[in-house]
Amino acid sequence: MCGIIGVVGGDRALATILEGLARLEYRGYDSAGVALQSGNELWSARAADGTRSVEALVERCTNAPANMTVGIGHTRWATHGNPTEVNAHPHLDCGNRIGLIHNGIIENHSELREHLQSLGHGFRSATDTEVMVHLMEEELKIDGDLVQATRRMLPQLRGAFAVAIISADHPNQVVAARRVSPLIVGSRDDVSFLGSDIPALMGHVDEVYAIEEDHVVDLRPGTISVTDLEGNTVHVEPVTITWDIEVAEKGGFKDFMTKEIHEQPEAIAATLADRTRDGFVALDELDLDEEDLRTIDKVVIIGCGSSYHAGLVGKFAIEAWGKLPTEVDIASEFRYRDAIFDASTLVVGVSQSGETIDTLEAIKKAKKSGSKVIAVSNIVGASMTREADGTIYTRAGLEVSVASTKTVLAQVVALELLALRLAELRGTRSAEEIAEAMADLQALPAALTQLVDASEGPEAIADAVGDAQDFFFLGRHLGFPVALEGALKLKEISYLRAEGYPAGELKHGPIALIEPGVVVVAIVLSGPMAEKMYSNIAEVKARGATVICVAEDSDHIVDSLADYVLRIPDVAELVAPVLAMVPLQQLAYAIAQAKGFDVDRPRNLAKTVTVE
Ligand code: AGP
Repeated sequence: MCGIIGVVGGDRALATILEGLARLEYRGYDSAGVALQSGNELWSARAADGTRSVEALVERCTNAPANMTVGIGHTRWATHGNPTEVNAHPHLDCGNRIGLIHNGIIENHSELREHLQSLGHGFRSATDTEVMVHLMEEELKIDGDLVQATRRMLPQLRGAFAVAIISADHPNQVVAARRVSPLIVGSRDDVSFLGSDIPALMGHVDEVYAIEEDHVVDLRPGTISVTDLEGNTVHVEPVTITWDIEVAEKGGFKDFMTKEIHEQPEAIAATLADRTRDGFVALDELDLDEEDLRTIDKVVIIGCGSSYHAGLVGKFAIEAWGKLPTEVDIASEFRYRDAIFDASTLVVGVSQSGETIDTLEAIKKAKKSGSKVIAVSNIVGASMTREADGTIYTRAGLEVSVASTKTVLAQVVALELLALRLAELRGTRSAEEIAEAMADLQALPAALTQLVDASEGPEAIADAVGDAQDFFFLGRHLGFPVALEGALKLKEISYLRAEGYPAGELKHGPIALIEPGVVVVAIVLSGPMAEKMYSNIAEVKARGATVICVAEDSDHIVDSLADYVLRIPDVAELVAPVLAMVPLQQLAYAIAQAKGFDVDRPRNLAKTVTVE
C-alpha cells in the first residue's frame, strides 16, 4: 500500500507533490521519489531513509530544475524488493525517457520480466513495478501515443495497480489507470491532480473523481478525460471532499484500528497474490535451497504476542499438510532455554515489525546452531529478514494501531503458505490437495469483506457485557490460538482481565472462577472439537457465566447454548481461524470505544518492542 500523487500544470508541481507525499506517509514511508517533466526533459530523484524518506527527498529536490510543470511522486511501502533507493519509485525505462509510479502488486511480474529481458530490456530494481515501465517503452514504439500505449499495457498485467506515467516526449501530460488499487483525480483552473487517496489532493480541489477499474485517465493542465480500454469516453460523477486532513488520513474511519480491520480483505489478498506458478506454490522471497526444506525433520516457530498466536495456528497447518513435528515457542522463553534444534531444524521467526528484540535474538541463536531460519515479516528489509536465510512477507501494508489486526491474519496466511510449500516439497500432499487448500485460502478475502462490514453484532454485545470485569476466552484445537488472540485484544485496548484457555483445561482449575458476572467467549469451529465445546459451554452456563459464541453460519446448536452469537462464514477448517479472529477484534474495539479509550494508542504499550 503505497501513496501516489501527480500534478499537471501550474508552477508549483514539485512543491505540491512534496507536500502531498508528506501527507501520504501513513500509507508507507520506507522510501520516496519524484519525477518531473518540462519541455523534453525528465528529472527524477529518490530517497530511502526509513521514516525520514520524504524529508530526505525534499533535501534532494533542492537541486531540481525550476519551473517543471508536470510531476509524479510516490511514497513506498515495500512488497517486492528491499526498501532501497534503487527500488524506490519512480522507475524509468531503458532510455530514462519514461517515469512511472505504482501502488499495488503485479502478480505476473516474473514472466513479464523474463519476456522483456529477452527483448533486451535491462532491469535496475528488484520490484514488480519495473516491468510496467519497460512494457510502456515497448508499447510506445508502436505509435508514440501515451494513452494508447497504456491501453495496450493494461491487459498484459495481472494483479492490483494504480499507475501514473509521464514521459519526456509528452509535455503537459500524465496518464494514469487502475485495477483494484484506488485512484482519484481532480482539477482546478489550469492544474490537474491525481492521487491514491484524498489527502494527496486536499487543499487543491474541492471535488474528486474516483476512477473505475481498467479506465485510463489523460490528465492535461486543467482538463481530465477518462476512457475505457476500447477508447470510449467514460462519464464520472464528482464527489465533494468533506473530510478534514485527520479524517482523510484514516480513510474516513474514526481511527486507524477500524481502518486496519477494514483493510483485512485487501491485506490477505495481497499476501496471497502471486503465490502459485506453473501449478506450484511460489514463495519468491523465501530463497532457500529446496533440498534444505525437503530434508528438515522439525519446525520451531517463534514469536511474541499476536505473532506467537499466529504461530500456534501455523503449527496445525505444518503438521497437517507438511507432516512435520512443529513446536511453537514464545521468543523470550526460547532464547533462554536449552531448546533442542540443529541443522535439520527449520526455525521460523514471526514478527510484524521484524524488529522485536526477543524474536530477533532467538533467530540469531537458532542460526548459530546451524538451523535454517525463515522470517515472516510485514516490513521488507527489517532486521529479522536480514538475519534470516529466507523470508516470507506478509503484504498487509503499514499497520499504525498498536493492536495488531490485519498483520496477524496475514501472518497466519503466510505460515499456511509455508506449510503448503513444505507439503509440496516433501510430497506429503498431492497436487490436487494443495490446489484445494490454495483455493480455501483464496476464499478468505471475500469472506473477510462480509465480516468486516458487519460490526453491529459486536457493538450490541459490547453494550450488554461492557461492565463485566472478568472474561475467559475458551477454544480447542484451532480455536485455542483464536481464544488467546481474542483475550489479548481485549486486554490491550479495553484494560479488562481476559484469559485465553484451552477449553479442555477448564476442569483442571479455571472453572473454579466461573460465577455470575463472568463472561465466557467460546470459539466453536466446525470439526471434531465442536461437540466438546458445546459441553464446555454448558458447564460454564450452568455456573452462571454469560456466554458469547463465535461460530460458523451453519452451526445452529450454539443458538440454544449461548447468550450471544458472533457469526463467521463457513470455510475450510484450517483457514477458519483467520475469520474467527475478526469478530473478537470488533468486540474488543466496541468495548474499548464504549469506555472511551484511545484504541490506537493503548496505555503502556509500544508498537515495536526493541528492548527486553
Ligand atoms: C499485538 O496486538 C500486540 N501489539 C503485540 O502482542 C505484538 O504482536 C508483539 O509485540 C509482537 O510484535 P511483532 O509482531 O512486531 O514482533
